[in-house]
Amino acid sequence: MTKAKTHFVCQSCGYQVPKWLGRCPGCQEWNTFVEERVVEEKVPERDLLGFETEAVPTPITEIVGEERGRFQIGIGEFDRVLGGGIVFGSVILVGGDPGIGKSTLLLQVMNRLASKGKRVLYISGEESLQQTKMRADRLGISSEHLFVVSEASLEKILQDIQTNRPSTVVVDSIQTIYSSELRSTPGSISQVREASSRLLYLAKHLSIPIFLIGHVTKEGFIAGPKVLEHMVDTVLYIEGETTHAFRILRAVKNRFGSTNEIGVFEMKDSGLVEVVSPSEFFLSERTESTSGSVVMPSMEGSRPILIELQALVVPTNFGLPRRTAEGVDVNRVSLLVAVMEKRLGIHLNNQDIFLNIAGGMKVEEPAADLGVISAIASNFKDKVVDPEMAVFGEVGLGGEVRGVSQSEVRVKEASRLGFKRCLMPKQNQEKVKGTKGIELIGVRTIQEAMKALF
Ligand code: TYD
Ligand code: MG
Repeated sequence: MTKAKTHFVCQSCGYQVPKWLGRCPGCQEWNTFVEERVVEEKVPERDLLGFETEAVPTPITEIVGEERGRFQIGIGEFDRVLGGGIVFGSVILVGGDPGIGKSTLLLQVMNRLASKGKRVLYISGEESLQQTKMRADRLGISSEHLFVVSEASLEKILQDIQTNRPSTVVVDSIQTIYSSELRSTPGSISQVREASSRLLYLAKHLSIPIFLIGHVTKEGFIAGPKVLEHMVDTVLYIEGETTHAFRILRAVKNRFGSTNEIGVFEMKDSGLVEVVSPSEFFLSERTESTSGSVVMPSMEGSRPILIELQALVVPTNFGLPRRTAEGVDVNRVSLLVAVMEKRLGIHLNNQDIFLNIAGGMKVEEPAADLGVISAIASNFKDKVVDPEMAVFGEVGLGGEVRGVSQSEVRVKEASRLGFKRCLMPKQNQEKVKGTKGIELIGVRTIQEAMKALF
């Protein structure tokens, strides 16, 4: 008997090689090759994916642009991230760490649609019908239009969709679905690719949207489906810490909208609840009269969110001073501490510094610099920063305060939440217009900022 022919397939990007390799030449990932049996793959007909068989180049001016129909779910934060609702025939990949709330969110989305009278199908390859029912009870879901099937066979799923013609489908998760035509195990790149391409074709063919749930591995990418990200129309990620209640839904790719939008949710006992005003949510537990606490208007895409930066500066007991940061880049903090030493003459080389963003938010933009410096200085001097003041601005190595983008939006958000003063770059202050009720204090250097603060 001859040995079955095999080859090695990169589980991250799908690169194929006849012999095992340690590093994938396609995506440079290590240890991603897995032996798989060679399957004779049929080359699909061109028009299987809905393309013209004879594609003739057309002048762009003669192409009729058609806005594909959308429908809204009715969960504002979710619709916003999708760019204003679900597009018919689109395939949306929803990724995130295990336990972050993917199944919960999509069950809630399906329930919304079902309660509007749309027939929707939730395919669970991971959980039994009873498990899904228990979750639904917890979420208070009961709609006769929401159909659930516990199925992992791709062929049966395709059949189900074709016969039932639901208006929307969720596949939870794409890594559990397998095609009996392939011999590789569920979750392997061939299976994931096969399942998604056939679901993709079906979605376009029947013009129904399909949500695919995908797990993200610890390393931070969706297991296998880097390939998947290229195939689908939209990729959404649910971010957050399982130790904190808030979740951010972010579009990292969207063929039908911007990728700047985020949706904020809070995980409660009854499922995910929209957070309409994230600023209020993140400032809700603030104690105003503690030193080391500074409020900063950060931007998440096009959305301003006020966050509270907290610093704790304590003498080093032993050895090297520690620098610990949660939610901000610790290297950036070290750099800013060096700037403070040099330009403000504050000696921090015998102090441990701990920085934290309340509520578990993360801020990556340099606009947080001035806030970080203010918080550290405030705790070090043990002087409270005016609780009605918001602070933002980038800080350069020379101690200069540099302008940042979208300053007007930041100031307006601070003003909306009742802040009376805003410490900001001078350059931005001159451009911000039409903000009544909030005093703008523009500074050029961190020395000026310290004078204004304390
Ligand atoms: P789940 O949706 O199963 O996560 P995923 O599909 O991304 O793996 O969510 C699981 C977590 O959410 C679980 O730890 C419990 C929590 N949870 C709530 O806090 N409230 C709820 O109403 C539900 C259904 C889950
Ligand atoms: Mg799940």
